[in-house]
Amino acid sequence: MRRHLCSCILLTLVMAGSLIVASLSDADGPVYLGQKYCRACHSSSDDNRYHLWLNSKHARAFEALRGAEKADPECLGCHTTGHGEPISEKADRKDLRGVQCEACHGPGSEYKSMKVMKDPKLARKAGLWEDTRDVCLRCHR
Ligand code: HEC
Ligand code: HEC
Ligand code: HEC
Ligand code: HEC
Repeated sequence: MRRHLCSCILLTLVMAGSLIVASLSDADGPVYLGQKYCRACHSSSDDNRYHLWLNSKHARAFEALRGAEKADPECLGCHTTGHGEPISEKADRKDLRGVQCEACHGPGSEYKSMKVMKDPKLARKAGLWEDTRDVCLRCHR
C-alpha cells in the first residue's frame, strides 16, 4: 500500500515536471538562434554584414566581462543576446554571447528563411524588428 502511494506521488511529480518542460519549450512566437544562422546568407562579397559585425566591439562584448561577471545576470542582459528570452532548442546560451545580429534585428527563428527574408513585410510580421534608436537604447542608456 505504501509503495503504491509512493509511485502515485512519483507519477504526479513526473507529470508536473513534463508539463513545466512542455510549457517552457512551447514558446509562442520567435526564438533566438545565434549568429551562425545569419552568417550563412549574410557573409558573401556583396553582403558582408557578417564580417562588418565580426570586426565590431559588439561581437566581443562578452569578452569584456571578467570572471564571475560572465555569469552575472546584471551583466548578461546587455553583453549577450536574448538574455532571459526563449532560445531555439538547437541553440545553446553559449551561441548567444556578445551583442549579435538578433540583439538588434530581433529573434530570427521565424524570419530566417529565404522566402520570408526577401519580403520586408513578411519578415517584419515574422519578428524582424524595425531599425530604430529604441533598439540601441535597450543597452545604451
Ligand atoms: C536563407 C538566407 C538568409 C538567412 C538565413 C538570413 N537572411 Fe537576412 N536576408 C536574406 C535576404 C535574401 C535578404 C534580402 C536581401 C538583402 O537585403 O540582402 C535579407 C535581408 C535581411 C535584413 C534587411 C531586411 C529589411 O527588410 O530591412 C536584415 C536586417 C536581415 N536580413 C537580418 C538577418 C538576421 C539577423 C539573420 C539571422 C537570424 C538573417 N538575416 C538570416 C537572407 C537570409
Ligand atoms: C544596460 C546595459 C548594460 C548592462 C546591464 C551592463 N553593461 Fe557593460 N556596457 C554596456 C554598453 C552599452 C557598453 C559600451 C559603452 C560605450 O562604449 O559607450 C558597455 C561597456 C562595458 C565595458 C567596457 C568594454 C570595453 O571594451 O571597453 C565593460 C568592461 C563592461 N561594460 C562591463 C560590464 C559589467 C561587468 C556589467 C555587469 C555588472 C555590465 N557591463 C552591465 C551596457 C551594459
Ligand atoms: C548593434 C546593432 C546591430 C547588430 C549587432 C547588427 N545589426 Fe544589422 N543593422 C543594424 C541597423 C541599425 C541597420 C540599419 C542601418 C544600416 O543599414 O546600417 C542594420 C541593417 C542591416 C541589414 C540591411 C542592410 C541594407 O543595406 O539594407 C542587414 C542585411 C543586416 N543589418 C544584417 C545583420 C546581420 C546578419 C548581423 C549579424 C552578423 C547584424 N546585422 C548585426 C543594427 C545591427
Ligand atoms: C544588447 C545590447 C546592445 C544593443 C542592442 C546595442 N549595443 Fe552597442 N554596445 C553594447 C555593448 C555591451 C558594448 C561594449 C562592447 C565592448 O566594448 O566590449 C557596445 C558598444 C557600442 C559602441 C562602441 C563600439 C566601438 O567600436 O567603440 C557603439 C558605437 C555602439 N555600441 C553603438 C550601438 C548602436 C548604434 C546600436 C543600435 C543600432 C547598439 N549599439 C545596440 C551593447 C549593445
